[in-house]
Amino acid sequence: MPKRFADKFSGGALTFTFRDLIIIPAKTEVEPSEVDLRTRFTRNIEVAIPFVSSPMDTVTGSEMAIALARLGGIGVVHRNMSVEEQVEEVRRVKRAESFIIRDVVTIGPWATVGEALRIMKERGISGLPVVDGDRLVGIVTKRDVTFEAPEKRVEEVMTRELYTAEPDITIEEAKARMRAHKVEKLPVVSREGKLLGLITIKDIYSRERYVNATRDGEGRLRVAASVSPFDIERAKALDAYADALVFDVAHFHNTKAMRAADAVARETSADIVVGNIGTAEAMRDVLGYVRRVDGVRVGIGSGSACITAVVTRVAAPTLFAVSQVADALAEENVDIPVIADGGVRNPGDAALALASGASCVMMGNVFAGCTESPGELIKIGNKYYKPFRGMGSKSSRAKRFTLDRYSQSPKGIAEGVEGFVHYRGDAQVVVEEFSEGLKATMGYTGARCIREMWDKAKFGLVSATGVQELSPHDIVLPGD
Ligand code: XMP
Repeated sequence: MPKRFADKFSGGALTFTFRDLIIIPAKTEVEPSEVDLRTRFTRNIEVAIPFVSSPMDTVTGSEMAIALARLGGIGVVHRNMSVEEQVEEVRRVKRAESFIIRDVVTIGPWATVGEALRIMKERGISGLPVVDGDRLVGIVTKRDVTFEAPEKRVEEVMTRELYTAEPDITIEEAKARMRAHKVEKLPVVSREGKLLGLITIKDIYSRERYVNATRDGEGRLRVAASVSPFDIERAKALDAYADALVFDVAHFHNTKAMRAADAVARETSADIVVGNIGTAEAMRDVLGYVRRVDGVRVGIGSGSACITAVVTRVAAPTLFAVSQVADALAEENVDIPVIADGGVRNPGDAALALASGASCVMMGNVFAGCTESPGELIKIGNKYYKPFRGMGSKSSRAKRFTLDRYSQSPKGIAEGVEGFVHYRGDAQVVVEEFSEGLKATMGYTGARCIREMWDKAKFGLVSATGVQELSPHDIVLPGD
């Protein structure tokens, strides 16, 4: 029994939400164009922009993850699919570009043209090195097979005159060789003729085009994958390819989830992102239970498709949660990036989340509206929409792979809703809008980088009635 129930009211924490706060302008010497948005997603993964896409089945598949990594952020591939499907999505990102592709998809000389076409289509690639055992004997591209009979053998149509590269070739040498021979692919072979990798002109151009891309040591795009702590086999399968494993639990501050996560951390080597949590106490406990924590996903109940707070009246709104966790980490002297997750609608919200102690912002709703999210574009009247649903919604739960997000033995109630979001265009447009908006906020506060914003941005409280004054008012807008 508490000493006095009434203390619960007077001692209640002030759990501020995005709409409650503004950032007070401060003396500045910083132009928005001078702001540097570089930050960290995990201890070991640096990103050029602080934007991460949510592991939701209407937000992040391979296409979104590729787009976001190219723009300098990172995507977390959702888990509402079989292990094999999720691994393939992650591998697609890893294969999307690199200087030398190591995980090359090949075909044998006796396979059929039909099979070659099917593999190219399924894997989204335009050519296959032909190998006999591990020896390179030819190369077959879409052009070689498109007009051929499907039952023909690959060896009948493949190109045998091969231009290859040695394993230590430089980018400039590879480019020059491709230009000289007018080829778009250069298989990398050992002295004995063994296929070791593949260089494509597309990857080289992409590298030059996306200078801020989030890449690993081999030049491949980085990608994270969401996992349940209770599915160690999935985590192990993804560990071979993903740069980070992101736990996807609605309430991670649960002894069973934390113990299971520790077992996953023991058996894997990718960076580990724990979450979601919402309090300082949770952060301290997680550090005690989980041996390896490289990032933390923070916020409960603020998500735009989330009804957890409506159904259960439980929430740790994102801004409150971020400040709690960031303070706990500082007190423990542990340097782990905090990822603010849920409720961000515009660059100003992102700025509030970062100023509260986050290093990155995770967004579901915002990225669901992009071309690269998995759902179909839908036209209603003269407006365009994309589908969007919470991972705890009825239709998402019907796929069953994420049932344990809400508890180990699945709960009978939905904690999310489903609907549509306005189509926003390509991820590039959205990322530019968010980056420019965030730089403008940082200019107003005199912060050159996110760390400076932690110190410099001061908050102001807005009353419920004041919210109206701070958005367009007393003006008739077109379309009203
Ligand atoms: P936004 O506001 O960006 O939030 O759409 C994305 C985050 O919301 C969380 N999420 C959910 N939370 N029920 C919940 O309680 C759900 O059905 C649900 N689906 C997603 C998740 O943390 C995501 O990153």
